[in-house]
Amino acid sequence: MCGIVGYIGDKQAVPVLMDGLRRLEYRGYDSAGIAVLDNGSLHESKSVGKLSILENMLKDHPLSGKVGIGHTRWATHGRPSDDNAHPHSDCKHEIAVVHNGIIENYMKLKKMLVAEGHVFVSETDTEVLAHLIEKYYEDNLLSAVRHALQNVEGSFAIGVISIREPGCIVAARRYSPLVLGLGEGENILASDIPAFLPYTKEAMLINDDELVLITKDKAEISTLSGEPVERESFQVLWDAKMAEKGGYKHFMLKEIFEQPQVVADTLTGRLTDDNRISLAETGFQDELWKKINKVFIVACGTAYHAGMVGKYLIEEIARLPVEVDLASEFRYRNPIVDENSLVIAISQSGETADTLAAAKEAKSKGAKLLSICNVMGSSLTRESDGVLYTRAGIEVGVAATKTFIAQLIALYLISYYAGHLRGNVPEADLNAFCSEIRRIPRYIDQILVSHDEIKNLAKLFQKKTDFLYLGRNIQYPIALEGALKLKEISYIHAEGYAAGEMKHGPIALIDENVPVLAIAPRGPNYDKIISNIKEVKARDAESIGVVSDGDNEAQHHFDHIFTVPGTSYLLSPILMTVPLQLLAYYIADKKGTDVDQPRNLAKSVTVE
Ligand code: F6R
Repeated sequence: MCGIVGYIGDKQAVPVLMDGLRRLEYRGYDSAGIAVLDNGSLHESKSVGKLSILENMLKDHPLSGKVGIGHTRWATHGRPSDDNAHPHSDCKHEIAVVHNGIIENYMKLKKMLVAEGHVFVSETDTEVLAHLIEKYYEDNLLSAVRHALQNVEGSFAIGVISIREPGCIVAARRYSPLVLGLGEGENILASDIPAFLPYTKEAMLINDDELVLITKDKAEISTLSGEPVERESFQVLWDAKMAEKGGYKHFMLKEIFEQPQVVADTLTGRLTDDNRISLAETGFQDELWKKINKVFIVACGTAYHAGMVGKYLIEEIARLPVEVDLASEFRYRNPIVDENSLVIAISQSGETADTLAAAKEAKSKGAKLLSICNVMGSSLTRESDGVLYTRAGIEVGVAATKTFIAQLIALYLISYYAGHLRGNVPEADLNAFCSEIRRIPRYIDQILVSHDEIKNLAKLFQKKTDFLYLGRNIQYPIALEGALKLKEISYIHAEGYAAGEMKHGPIALIDENVPVLAIAPRGPNYDKIISNIKEVKARDAESIGVVSDGDNEAQHHFDHIFTVPGTSYLLSPILMTVPLQLLAYYIADKKGTDVDQPRNLAKSVTVE
């Protein structure tokens, strides 16, 4: 998983490429590089490390040229190093390639190319592409790239330039994202829309197994087998400003504070004035919702935690049995799925390789595929029979926050919609739900107003090395999510546990150095979780309770409490999540970690 960008037009390419790479850095930041064509030569600059290093190199040794490609890398084949940084070139240094994806048969191809005399300088799978294109290049770059890709197995989004055809860039994709920004006298290719938003809002999607010949005035798409393809462009509604920090110290904090708006946006048009839910946009007929007899949810990471909440909701509200699986496990366990199954794939990016593969597997067994996704036109949405978009806008922080909340909202809508249709949700309950979920943005606002309380808690706990998060029932996935947020951005070891499980092992970890956070809203299991807290307190652990407003008992049970507005027990996971996001954020910020781009992580994991 990496970010690629390419520019052709009347401007100097380097500033546009660097700007684009900066907006794609969330996709990986192990190394970065660019190549430009100028006066019949190929010039490149690349370096291991973050983009800022490349930026400094370009200050010392500027490059000029109006055609170029760039890359920001998340290493898969070959460690992060200068040699392994993209772009990669052929033997004669005439062709340059940037690539996101994995060439699965690269060892075989490399062996063949080496036997033919090609000299490799990197350990990457990508370099075989440069040499393959060189091998097939007669007088037409597009044909050479097509020929090369016909020999390739695996996934790719590529941009290719050659000194022999300085008036074009050739790009192609299979299972890795690629989109074009069409400007006036300039065109830009990129892994993701924000890379070109400052220059144009007119975009065009490239599909799997398509190539595109890009000049400054046009973009001609054709299939891998050579047939021309007509494609409409579309206007991007996102504003470039949406991708900026808007005055917050980090994108993550900004995104946490956007959550009231995100909830409101995700509800818009889906809750009618007379308190009904409309999911017409999924294209799923009522008969389908009635026919389903089992639901499978597949997702990874934070989206999986949303899926776990979804299981509780769909079972409780729609009375449909649900299995929830880590997408990376689903397809390897031969799940019993058929045409009466509904598979819900949840993914912010819509590009997560494991989720895509699980979704495809379920579809191949006859299931209907509904995706909950944040990125329009992403690979997952294109595989799906229906899509319910989360309207969270661009999420730049690597740690998912607002998209998790939006995924939960989508799952509530699905649960109540299906439940009502199937006769399990009486009118009065539907009415009560619709009225209460409309209040959620206001409740989140109230939590955010008290962010200083969490900041103060963070000061007390920033030096801890271990943390335990406990929750029961529908709060258990929120405990997992709270622990994931803390570990991924602060690098503190944290575990989420079903509170009842604690006595079956993890209690051995407890001592005065391991704080325990319990998610304890008023409702079923409240007394049980309080008993669990008594057990940890008896072992000297410091305890934090995230509790409902009006819970006057809580202060007797916990060393520290944070109060969230009271809501229905079923809706409370949304509110319980927000303080945990803030706690993770403020602890990480105090520790001075790279909150928006934590080490070893990338925003979108497009490899298995
Ligand atoms: C954690 C996080 C990841 C993602 C996971 C799935 O904060 O962001 O765990 O949730 O990589 O990504 P998507 O939702 O894009 O499929």
